[in-house]
Amino acid sequence: LLRRAFIVKASQARTAPDFSLRSIASTSGRLDVVLRSIISAFKTCDGIRENVDFYAILTGPPNPPVQLWISGMEKPEIPENEIELATIIKRLLAGETIKGYHISKASFEKTILSLMKQYYIFYLHENGEDIRKTHFKPGSYAFVLGDHVGLPLSDERFLEKLKVKKISLGPISYLTSQCITIVNNELDLLE
Ligand SMILES: C[S@@+](CC[C@H](N)C(=O)[O-])C[C@H]1O[C@@H](n2cnc3c(N)ncnc32)[C@H](O)[C@@H]1O
Repeated sequence: LLRRAFIVKASQARTAPDFSLRSIASTSGRLDVVLRSIISAFKTCDGIRENVDFYAILTGPPNPPVQLWISGMEKPEIPENEIELATIIKRLLAGETIKGYHISKASFEKTILSLMKQYYIFYLHENGEDIRKTHFKPGSYAFVLGDHVGLPLSDERFLEKLKVKKISLGPISYLTSQCITIVNNELDLLE
């Protein structure tokens, strides 16, 4: 199986458990984008993908950065329901331990540099090379994605310096969670 990691930079997502579960999008700095991305990364009708790791770098107030890492191999519980998933993230931010979920203070840069040791990294961008032209040998691949406003310029420059290749799913700008579904499907078709 092709091992996959998804890294979503959530520029405005709150870094404290102080958002409302009744209006997640408007009180959490759009954590809803991350929640849908997690569901797309792991869930299938048959269960969860154990060959996936998911990282979100939350850089909203009051305590950035926070790295959220969910490890498929540890068989985390991933609810299909965004509110239940938000409840889990809230409990984590409050310091609880939950199987398969990990919180740390790692920045975007630190996360990328550390993942480079285990994964071949791509940056998903509309203007990159077509993903269907990429030759995926058996191995581990990590995909960097922006949130609803895209990746900040400084992060794009950082990836450029590291010679991270841009790959594209097509000319249309898809939602972050939709991109994850498409990448999972493209890699599934190669297996
Ligand atoms: C909603 S889009 C960001 C749109 C934002 N307005 C911008 O201009 O960057 C969210 C993320 O999905 C990824 N993405 C969207 N469409 C894509 C495509 N066609 N190919 C590759 N990645 C894509 C990019 O990583 C992007 O940062």
